[in-house]
Parts: sequence; C-alpha cells; structure tokens
Amino acid sequence: MNSAEKMKIVSIVGARPNFMKIAPFIRAIEEYNQNGQVKIEHVLVHTGQHYDDNMSKAFFEALNIPEADINLGIGSGTHAEQVGQTMIAFEKVVWQEKPDWIVVVGDVNATCACSITAKKENVRLAHIEAGLRSRDMTMPEEVNRLVTDRLSDLLFTPDRLSGENLLDEGISGEKIKFVGNIMIDTLEAQRKKAAELTIEDILRTNCMEGHIDVRSIGLSSDFALLTLHRPSNVDDPAVLTDIVHFLTNELTKDMKLIWTVHPRTEKQLKAFGLWHKVLSADGLILLNPLGYHELLRLNMAAKIVLTDSGGLQEECCVLGTPCLTFRWNTERPITLREHGGASVLVGNDVGHIRIGYSQMRQENRAPSRPELWDGKTAARIVQALVSDQFPKKPSTGEIPQRRQSCNG
Ligand code: UD1
Repeated sequence: MNSAEKMKIVSIVGARPNFMKIAPFIRAIEEYNQNGQVKIEHVLVHTGQHYDDNMSKAFFEALNIPEADINLGIGSGTHAEQVGQTMIAFEKVVWQEKPDWIVVVGDVNATCACSITAKKENVRLAHIEAGLRSRDMTMPEEVNRLVTDRLSDLLFTPDRLSGENLLDEGISGEKIKFVGNIMIDTLEAQRKKAAELTIEDILRTNCMEGHIDVRSIGLSSDFALLTLHRPSNVDDPAVLTDIVHFLTNELTKDMKLIWTVHPRTEKQLKAFGLWHKVLSADGLILLNPLGYHELLRLNMAAKIVLTDSGGLQEECCVLGTPCLTFRWNTERPITLREHGGASVLVGNDVGHIRIGYSQMRQENRAPSRPELWDGKTAARIVQALVSDQFPKKPSTGEIPQRRQSCNG
C-alpha cells in the first residue's frame, strides 16, 4: 500500500433507525483518515424516507452527523413507490460519484433500494447489520434484509447467530465479518450525555400539545415506556384498539405510562377513533417522537419498556431494562431472555401481553452485553473495508488470501 491509495465510499441513510448506525461509521472514517494508509473519501446520501425534523434533523444534530452531501427527497409512499423512486434517484448518484464501495445499514426501504442499484451498477456493496432474520415474510424489513444480504459483497454481522443464518443460506464465509453491533457504539458514546438530562425536562419539552400539566406528573415512582410503530400493531383497528384498551384500562392503573408516538401511529389512532381516549387517559403521558438522548434517558430510568422496535430491544439488553416486545418473532434473538438478554416476545394479543407484563414488572434491571457489543464495531468495519479493497501482498511462502474473514 502506498500513501497515494484512495478509496471512495458512498453510504446511505433513509429512516430514523439508520442514523444511529451511520454516526459511528462516519466518525470511524474520520479517525482512520488521521493515520490510515489509505485516504477514504466519504459521501453521505439521505434518501429522505423520513423527513420530519424530529424523525431526521434532530438525530443529525444530536449525533453530530454532518449534513448529507446528497438528499434524494423521496418522502412517504407505498413500498413500491419508495423503493422505485429511490432506485431511480440513486442510480444517478452512482453514475456521478463512481464509488469503490456502497455501504448500507439496517433493513429499511432505502437499504434495499440502494443495494439493488449498487449491484446493477456493479459497485461493491457492504451491509452493516447483516444476517438478522425474523423468518416472517409479512414484515417488509425481512424482505429488505434478504435482498440486501443476497447482494452484498461484505456482510457485517452483529452477533454469531446472524453469521449462522447467512451460512445456512449458502453465503460464503469469506464475505461474512463478525464485527458486533454498531448501534451500541452510539449508545456507549452518548450515554453520559443522556444521563445528564432530567426526566421532567424531557416531558415538558416533548409533551404533545394540550395533553398534560407536567407539574402534575409526579414521576418519582416507577413508570413504563412505550413505543409502537409496526404495521402489524398499528394498521389493524382491532389490534390497536385492544392494545389501547389494555394500556388505558389496566397498565396505567398500575404505573404511569410514557408513550412516545410515531407519526404513523398517531395517524392510525386518529383514523380509528382512539385519539381522544389516549389523550384523556389518566396516567398516560403522550410525547412527540423523541431525540436519541431523550429516549435513552427514559430507557435508563424506566421500570419496564414495551416496544415493537428492534433497536430498543437491543438497547434494553445492554441497559438491562425488562422489555416486553410486542411481536410474535424477532430478527434479534440475541436480545431475548433465553440468550441472556432482557426481552420477551408477547405478540399483540392482550392475553399474552397481560401475563408478560405482570411477570416482567417484578423484574429488576439486569444488563447483559453480547460478544463484541463493545463500542468499537465501526472501527472494525472501516478496517475490514480497507483490507478488502487493498489486500495485503503475500510475502514469499505465504498462501495468498484475497479476502480474510474476521470470523473467529
Ligand atoms: C420505517 C421502516 C421501519 C423502521 C421505522 C422507524 C421500512 C419498510 N420501514 O417504518 O423498519 O423501524 O421506519 O421509524 O422502511 N411519516 C411522517 N414523517 C416522517 C416519516 C414518516 O409523518 O418523517 C409518516 C407518514 O405518514 C408515513 C408513515 O409515517 O407514511 C410511515 O413511514 P414509512 O417511512 O413509510 O415507514 P415507518 O413506519 O416509519
């Protein structure tokens, strides 16, 4: 390798859960460039799938992500509209930028769309958070994960179970790099700042307009924290109505509930005539979508988390917060009790949710840290990309190895 060697990476974000995965990656590139032998040029593309300030801009600011170099402005739409329009717009970016690598994260529509475009343009593709499988093909994210992993040249896995999934699907072990969970890089970098926030300030600043008098909250006692946004939970009126009744008639009689409401969920609560019920329920505090530090702070203090978010399941695992996952399956089994994590699956049937809640609300915080969830995942990824692009020349007698696997 000589000092003239360069490598250009285009990376993509589209929706909220992508931002905490890209922040450490960008920082690791900056750090690599200070002393590394290769000069990495990085171009950040935002597809614009999430566009509200509190779903996007707030995360760029809080996590010090530089403004995207290119914004495709895709916005909301059906899956075909989002994927199709992203592919058309991203193709032009690939022609213009001519990258050595396209790096995608997670499993949202932007991830899938840009992966397909990358391979159709013969650009090498790397997937951060590869190998997760729920085996539930009704989940749009499962389709996105399968397509992306099938097309990727390098697959960065967060845990060993994900690596096994990929091997079972016939993906060559040489392409699979077990690097750990990049989300935890962000958690470790930000938890001190989050701990400095006060819960009362978070509630006061983010409370949905006209909802509560913050002075009357009295959060000295235990509280539960809820997030909900999956189509399987919020798009079916019968399912969402049952969940809301459980929350307002049962859970809030036991402890206060803080609900940070996703825009999709707010839309559906209004469409199904449930909005007034949640607005007027005693013991239920409705918040706008929160910033990264605010949600982390609430998670650090909550007695229990109720969620259908994969990222929150992972954060609960490291923070040790008992977590009821409102899904029948998970692509992140490492976060479940049986693998040492903090989460149990309760689906969206109120009978299961009730039993799970009454058991988990008794539990104490019990942090666990899966292998390589150590805050150093992004640095391993950058090093692996460089090594793959510029393989070490074999010295005499050494067996040539074009691409070495990080798998132990
Ligand atoms: C997307 C991801 C999901 C991820 C979630 C986190 C896919 C298939 N799904 O789901 O994996 O967990 O993001 O939030 O990519 N909306 C706004 N403002 C916004 C964004 C969305 O009002 O900034 C509303 C719109 O009404 C939109 C709806 O939310 O139609 C759903 O947004 P969309 O991006 O399609 O999917 P999410 O449910 O957010």
